[in-house]
Amino acid sequence: MTTPRLTQAAVQPYSRILGIGGVRGENVVTNDDVAGPINSSDEWIRQRTGIVTRRRAGGSTDVLDLAEGAARAALDDAGLTGADIDAVILSTVTYFHQTPAGAAVVADRIGATPAAAFDISAACAGYCYGIAQADALVRSGNARNVLVIGAEKMSDFIDPADRSISFLLGDGAGAAVVGASDTPGIGPTVWGSDGAQAPLIKQTHSWQDAVQHDAGWPTLRQEGASVFKWAVWQMAPVAEKALAAAGVTAQDIDAFIPHQANMRIIDQMIKQLKLPESVVVARDIADTGNTSAASIPLATERLLREGQVAPGALALQIGFGAGLVYAAQVVVLP
Ligand SMILES: CC(C)(COP(=O)(O)OP(=O)(O)OC[C@H]1O[C@@H](n2cnc3c(N)ncnc32)[C@H](O)[C@@H]1OP(=O)(O)O)[C@@H](O)C(=O)NCCC(=O)NCCS
Repeated sequence: MTTPRLTQAAVQPYSRILGIGGVRGENVVTNDDVAGPINSSDEWIRQRTGIVTRRRAGGSTDVLDLAEGAARAALDDAGLTGADIDAVILSTVTYFHQTPAGAAVVADRIGATPAAAFDISAACAGYCYGIAQADALVRSGNARNVLVIGAEKMSDFIDPADRSISFLLGDGAGAAVVGASDTPGIGPTVWGSDGAQAPLIKQTHSWQDAVQHDAGWPTLRQEGASVFKWAVWQMAPVAEKALAAAGVTAQDIDAFIPHQANMRIIDQMIKQLKLPESVVVARDIADTGNTSAASIPLATERLLREGQVAPGALALQIGFGAGLVYAAQVVVLP
């Protein structure tokens, strides 16, 4: 008996980002608003982080509302509707349901049913992880258009008295539509993880401890100085590898869009990468705060909306965070 020959999906040579959109939490929260319980000040927070305000969502807005808003904006920007989407990837660490995936709920809300839908947990690297997967899905022929959403309501996991991370965090969602392209639009992804360093950024305790052992509501904590050093020293080489993998140099790119964790981390990375002054650097953290998986697409959306970069610009993006995990790629902006 002969084995029948298998049909594989017809590959597409290239993919690109077709549209980007984002929404920020509706409330502007100042440094003075968060400084009291951590015995800090507007001056300290500005100097050590570059954050002036952070955006947070109100009580009636949940993480899927933010995700839906960003998804709709990205579809509009791409000139597509939910019916054009074959897969929805939601990256989040702040959705309360273990199952079903938030991506399936968002897919239904935007009329993308029966698109494949799944969530990924890669914290602040989540958007770049999602872009890697969308690129692979499109080029393998398994999806025509993929919606990648990074959405976080970080304020659901903050302890106002925590000095390590809570004052940095903001709420929002950013999304991108990835589809087929005639020319290369997404460079190879350089990514990885280091689980030995998992304790550096984490939830205080599990949901099981919260419920079965009355440990209270879990919140986030980090060892800030260690994370800072890791980001500064380990992430620039990852970004350099992403440039090399894409066949470009720091001189060739128009924009640098790193995860919005701390303005001093961004400034150090610029130095290490020896970025020319002509490269536009995303600094959305100053008034949005750190929105984890949403930070890179939100920063991208802003650069384009404010005309700081032109459509078609070449951007280096890098996400890094809890895991520890990281991912970088060079992309052509829509
Ligand atoms: C959190 C972070 C802002 C703290 O800044 P830092 O400069 O590293 O601060 P340190 O922990 O070294 O503490 C320095 C001093 O500031 C004080 N301090 C720490 N946090 C403070 C706060 N929130 N407000 C006021 N003072 C604070 C410390 O007590 C210490 O005081 P001392 O010198 O008198 O002992 C910084 O480490 C950071 O941004 N880390 C990485 C963040 C990040 O990327 N997180 C998410 C990963 S995706």
